[in-house]
Amino acid sequence: MNTSEEKHAIVTGGSRGIGRAIVVRLLKDGYRVWYLSRTIAEQAEDLASIAEQYQQSVTWIACDIADRTSLEQAMKVVMEQTGWVDLLVNNAGITRDALIMRMKDEAWNHVLQVNLSAAFLTCRALSRHMVQRRQGCIINISSVVGLVGNPGQTNYAASKAGLIGFSKSLARELASRAVRVNVVAPGFIETSMTEALGEPAKTQLQNQIPLGRIGSAYEVADAVAYLASPAASYITGQVLAVDGGMTM
Ligand code: NAI
Repeated sequence: MNTSEEKHAIVTGGSRGIGRAIVVRLLKDGYRVWYLSRTIAEQAEDLASIAEQYQQSVTWIACDIADRTSLEQAMKVVMEQTGWVDLLVNNAGITRDALIMRMKDEAWNHVLQVNLSAAFLTCRALSRHMVQRRQGCIINISSVVGLVGNPGQTNYAASKAGLIGFSKSLARELASRAVRVNVVAPGFIETSMTEALGEPAKTQLQNQIPLGRIGSAYEVADAVAYLASPAASYITGQVLAVDGGMTM
């Protein structure tokens, strides 16, 4: 039986990397968490035991967010299970890099679908419930690439910049109903997305970061936890860069 003291969060792409760190942090902050991904989380047993330790629960919903029907069905299932959602984190994201002259339609469309259109679909599905409750928080995970661009990533940059414009507009639409919408824009974070970079590229990158190091997924999760918390109750429509100072 749900009680009003419970807090419910949905995280897309919570199976690894930044999303998994967000799931862990939210469990520690007293949320029951539902995460959507195609495969179950890495070290799913650890997640379950963290949930138990904090007397919360973590539930995996198998979903390919690029598939509109699968995503809409997942939203329905989560709403049936949760009854309400306090926090939605649109974290899932992919890259399909290519210089524009070589970029295939499929790479453009797929990145826009996963990184941007899926956020539109989850926000549309859940904002109705948040508005009715006059309570809720949405956090979209963009990227510094959405702020400053990157060669070879026109599709990714367009999706991440799109997410910022989308979030600011949504923040304006929902503010009068006390629903806050913010963006976290990570810089270079140690995950499978950046693992593919070789050591020379990593060293070169590190030299461009004022704090002199690549960030951790937990540092991004801390920013999400802050924006979701009452400490950020007067903050909406903002982009918080977690990038070691890269875009200051
Ligand atoms: P990752 O590749 O380690 O994890 C991505 C997550 O999204 C996984 O859980 C994966 O299962 C899920 N996902 C991908 N496509 C999906 C689909 N079609 N359906 C369901 N789930 C899907 O990536 P990472 O590094 O943790 O990135 C998380 C977010 O942070 C992404 O939006 C990424 O663009 C953003 N970001 C990451 C940065 C980095 O340096 N790692 C820098 C800036 C932004």
